[in-house]
This record gives sequence, structure tokens and C-alpha cells, in this order.
Amino acid sequence: MKLRLGILASHGGSNLQAILDACRSGQLRAEARVAICNNSDAPARARARRAGVPGFHLSSHTHPDPAALDAAIAATLERHGVNLVVLAGYMKKLGPITLKRYRGRVLNIHPALLPKFGGQGLYGRRVHAAVLAAREPVSGVTVHLVDEEYDRGPIVAQREVPVLADDTVDTLGQRVLKAEHEIYVDTIERIALGEIALEGLSD
Ligand code: GRF
Repeated sequence: MKLRLGILASHGGSNLQAILDACRSGQLRAEARVAICNNSDAPARARARRAGVPGFHLSSHTHPDPAALDAAIAATLERHGVNLVVLAGYMKKLGPITLKRYRGRVLNIHPALLPKFGGQGLYGRRVHAAVLAAREPVSGVTVHLVDEEYDRGPIVAQREVPVLADDTVDTLGQRVLKAEHEIYVDTIERIALGEIALEGLSD
């Protein structure tokens, strides 16, 4: 199946970069059609531009009405022929129009082993701080389908990452982020190969 990706990112975009690199090298049988950022100056936007992927800034600044923003995101994805939406460090909730249009075809990556350490308020460094505070022996990465609630949709793939005795939020975060890059590319490739079946996904 030829995947045509729409990638949404908010900040650094290292996951977006890993996916773009894998598309370019042929490691991933997918084509990045469009990138959408909710921050106009996000490094993720510059990364997309450098890769020659059309990039759009769509946010509450460009569309103050949430329904209009939701419609603009859905229309942008559709206009670029996207058949799989990939959230890569996207810090906003998708609206009902986009979720309905792409139900079962929106992936997110979370830097912990869901359902542990997920939900509203648990993002970025806060996740790793919570894992360390709970003295967990392992953390990890989860790729899941997106629904209306944060971090709750069906789990598609998971990988454990060890927590070391002297870990800080930074060292754990770096180890997890490296695993994110690998597992996100790998999971999308398995979807492309049909090893992971997503209902509603078609050429
Ligand atoms: C990643 O840890 C991802 O799991 C989380 O936000 C971070 C984004 O990193 N949702 P980047 O922007 O891809 O570098």
C-alpha cells in the first residue's frame, strides 16, 4: 500500500525528520505529502521546507474559530491526498471534523508505555520526570491510534526502553527519543506492508 503521509508537529520535529529521512532513503515505502505546524517558527516547519515537503502554519492565530481551524486542517490533508495522518510531537487536540474524516488513520507517538504515564498534562519532560519519580525500572515508547481523548486510543506498537540508576530527565528523554525515531518509522513501514492493518486505510 502506498502511504501518503500528512505529518503534524508543534516544536522540534525530530520524529518528523526521522520519517522524512526514511521516506527519502527508501527505508520507508511512504511519501510525505504535507506538514502542518501550529507554531509559525517551529523548527519542524523548517525541516519540512528543507525536505521539499509543503508546509503550512495552521493554528488559533490563523484560524481563531476552533471549527474553522479543524476544517482547514482536514481540507489541507485532503487536498494533498493524505491517507495516513502522523502526529509527531503535535501538542494540540485534533478537532471532530479531522478525526471523523481520518478515523482509525491517525497515529500518535507517546514517550512512555501507555496506559501508564499518559493523559492530559503528561507530555514532554513531564512524562520522564513522572517515570523517574515512580522509580520505574523500564519506560518506553507507544504508537497508538488517536481518538477524542489524550493518549487513549488503541495501541499499535510498543517498545521498552530501560531506565538506568543514574538517569536524569534529560538522559532518559534522549534514550526514549532515539527509540521513538526507530519505532515510528518501523511501525509506519509495517502499516505500508500490511503487517499492521488499519481499518479504513486504502490507496
Ligand atoms: C516526543 O517525545 C513525542 O513522543 C512527544 O513529543 C516529543 C516530540 O519530539 N509527543 P520531536 O518534536 O519529534 O523532536
